[in-house]
Amino acid sequence: MTSDSLKTYYENILASIQDGIIVVSNDYAITTFNPAIEEMSGISSSHVIGKSLESVFSGESRLVELTGKTIGSGVTYSDSDFQIIRRRDRKPFPVSLVISPLSDENGNTTGAILVLRDMTRARELEDTLKKADRLASLGTLAAGMAHEIKNPLGGLRGAAQLLKEETGDEKYKEYLDVIIKEADRVNSLVENLLNLSGPKPLKLKSVNIHKILDGVLLLEKGILTESGIKVIRIYDPSIPSVIADEGQITQVLLNIVKNAAEAMPNGGELTLITKIFYDYIIIPPHPPLRKGGGGELGRRETKMVLVEVLDTGGGFQEDALSQVFTPFFSTKSKGTGLGLAVSHKIVEDHRGRIKVQNRTDGKGAAVQVFLPIA
Ligand SMILES: Nc1ncnc2c1ncn2[C@@H]1O[C@H](COP(=O)(O)OP(=O)(O)OP(=O)(O)O)[C@@H](O)[C@H]1O
Ligand SMILES: [Mg+2]
Repeated sequence: MTSDSLKTYYENILASIQDGIIVVSNDYAITTFNPAIEEMSGISSSHVIGKSLESVFSGESRLVELTGKTIGSGVTYSDSDFQIIRRRDRKPFPVSLVISPLSDENGNTTGAILVLRDMTRARELEDTLKKADRLASLGTLAAGMAHEIKNPLGGLRGAAQLLKEETGDEKYKEYLDVIIKEADRVNSLVENLLNLSGPKPLKLKSVNIHKILDGVLLLEKGILTESGIKVIRIYDPSIPSVIADEGQITQVLLNIVKNAAEAMPNGGELTLITKIFYDYIIIPPHPPLRKGGGGELGRRETKMVLVEVLDTGGGFQEDALSQVFTPFFSTKSKGTGLGLAVSHKIVEDHRGRIKVQNRTDGKGAAVQVFLPIA
């Protein structure tokens, strides 16, 4: 190989490595800065070659310190929990860092090689696992507590209900309503926690989605009229029944309509739309295999019912969109952040999908629920 093609050869290797690589000489001058580290740090190599590591990474003093140690002692240092600041958005970027001494043929240290591995995905997975773990222990706790809470709560609610029926005093009735309402709220919180924590058997039957939607509107009538929200229903009358758990789907749509109402405290428009939607699903090879089918993946068109809930509130906050299905994520002072998390789980249990986005035809949120038609 000529020295030129050798150079290209090594450059190609460096460019192909997914890990960020920085090479510095004994005096900390940067001699190599590969594309992966350009991407991670958001700094172009043309700005750093020949410059000192200290001047480029002035905010990351530990990087410079460890490099100094490596050059001084000829020993490899590593830190699996390191962060560099991405210049583009000033966001910390998680990396694992290994700094090895660079030696010449006589074994003299002539610099250091820094290898930075992107740990974003690993951290995300860790977070998901931690969350799942937290949910699992929460589930055990919730299941244990549910009975203990629900029984006395039921007694409390029943007694309040009786008192309300027997008292002739309107003022007391009002207080008793508060007790009943709050008892229901605690009850639904406990139910939600139970729902999230484990598989809940579906009580499947043929249900009419429009009936469920109208039921939800009836349940929410109080808050809708109170806030001055106009309801628009655009139902497709040709939609057939779906096989679903009526109670659970009611809860999904109730959670979504509640959110919409909460987003429009000063009035607005709530639009409920139903339509038929054709979706392709991938069918995994599953015994018994079709005759002659070699276990290949199948693609089948499925008919789905799409329920869209549109509001004219403020819409999802930008950072909220990716987190709304995370349990306990809430931007509301009194929210528990379980509504959409529970809804997501229920819809998935039904082999459906749920999507959230902001409207493109004006201000407000758009939530879509897809449910397979039998
Ligand atoms: N229609 C909507 N418009 C704007 N933001 C919404 C809407 N629906 C949900 N969100 C956002 O998603 C977050 C999560 O919603 P979710 O229903 O899971 O919890 P919550 O409403 O805050 O509390 P909970 O439902 O448990 O009382 C909300 O806090 C809000 O930020
Ligand atoms: Mg909610």
